[in-house]
Amino acid sequence: MKNILITGGAGFIGSHVVRLFVNKYPNYNIYNLDKLTYAGNLNNLKDLEKAPNYTFIKGDICDFEMVLQLFQKYNIDSVIHLAAESHVDRSIKDPFSFAQTNVMGTLALLQAAKHHWLTDNANTEANLFYHVSTDEVYGSLEMDGTFFTEETKYDPHSPYSASKASSDHFVRAFYDTFKLPIVISNCSNNYGSYQFPEKLIPLFINNIRHNKPLPVYGKGENVRDWLFVEDHASAIDLIFHKGKRGDTYNIGGFNEWKNIDLIKVIIKTVDKFLGREPGTSESLITYVTDRAGHDLRYAIDSSKLNKELGWEPSLQFEEGIEKTVKWYLENQDWLDNVTSGEYQKYYTEMYK
Ligand code: NAD
Ligand code: TYD
Repeated sequence: MKNILITGGAGFIGSHVVRLFVNKYPNYNIYNLDKLTYAGNLNNLKDLEKAPNYTFIKGDICDFEMVLQLFQKYNIDSVIHLAAESHVDRSIKDPFSFAQTNVMGTLALLQAAKHHWLTDNANTEANLFYHVSTDEVYGSLEMDGTFFTEETKYDPHSPYSASKASSDHFVRAFYDTFKLPIVISNCSNNYGSYQFPEKLIPLFINNIRHNKPLPVYGKGENVRDWLFVEDHASAIDLIFHKGKRGDTYNIGGFNEWKNIDLIKVIIKTVDKFLGREPGTSESLITYVTDRAGHDLRYAIDSSKLNKELGWEPSLQFEEGIEKTVKWYLENQDWLDNVTSGEYQKYYTEMYK
């Protein structure tokens, strides 16, 4: 029996992690704490509404008193912390909310965990604070075939990655200072169902469908390393159960794509599913001003996770992208609900 607090479970990756844990571990109680910002959408978890081992709690991770009460009320023994502001472009416009949620929110959770586990209820064997982070904390690579490893020095460039790096440092500081049992994973770019359509892949699928321009930043030459979101969730499951306390694990599928090449694959796949002539939608490509401070290349070396815990991704990229395109085209209602803002009105009313 475990009582796990998952934060940010109504978001993209969080909803996949919640689904995996609720379905795979009927003897675990899963408490999903989410503020339901623009990125949180309970439609992502409709299939779990009646699951007996699942509870949703609307709340802000920055609210220390409330978080501490949750630890006490539900006797929380583990945390999987995903709640964050997650979009680089938004962090350039509004860095304050990134520092607030990503840094102060993480700190509030750490303090509550420390208070409950190390003061009230000392049984650290059963406890784990799992912090979900990103490869963006490592900065940017040249086009030289090198990778981010667990030893790569932190060198964040965007307000988003700076806030995530800071939160990682706080998590590690709680391990070093208080022996709080922690583990951190740093994952590459995710793709798959339920991703908010401000991120490259769902935005472009939706725009192609509606014959809208595809805004390619700069020359489209930046490189990202893409992992299917369910493979990220399976890595989190493994690290949660088998990861060494105090360690960091990099997660990635050795799957680098130059943006423009990836965009052409998306166009080809969407055109195929929509019965358009191959390449029809390439005319939608529109080169726009580059993102400020745009990191050139991310590439994760996940061999530690493979060697020590035996993890490997389940899907080839071609299969993953087909599945993903198909999902967005078949779930136009989900997309329309998000782009119109309807999802927020409904759940805001319900959880007032
Ligand atoms: P997302 O933006 O889709 O979801 C974030 C969730 O957190 C939303 O449900 C939102 O409502 C919730 N949230 C935000 N502020 C909150 C607060 N103050 N209190 C409670 N809940 C709050 O993000 P995502 O893409 O699913 O990313 C989840 C985590 O994984 C983040 O920590 C992110 O840094 C990390 N990550 C993401 C990627 C990626 O490619 N998306 C890759 C590696 C790591
Ligand atoms: P994004 O999905 O925002 O993820 P991240 O910035 O965290 O890597 O962007 C992926 C890549 O696509 C990144 O190099 C920026 C680029 N991009 C565009 O060219 N156009 C867009 O409209 C968006 C959203 C991203």
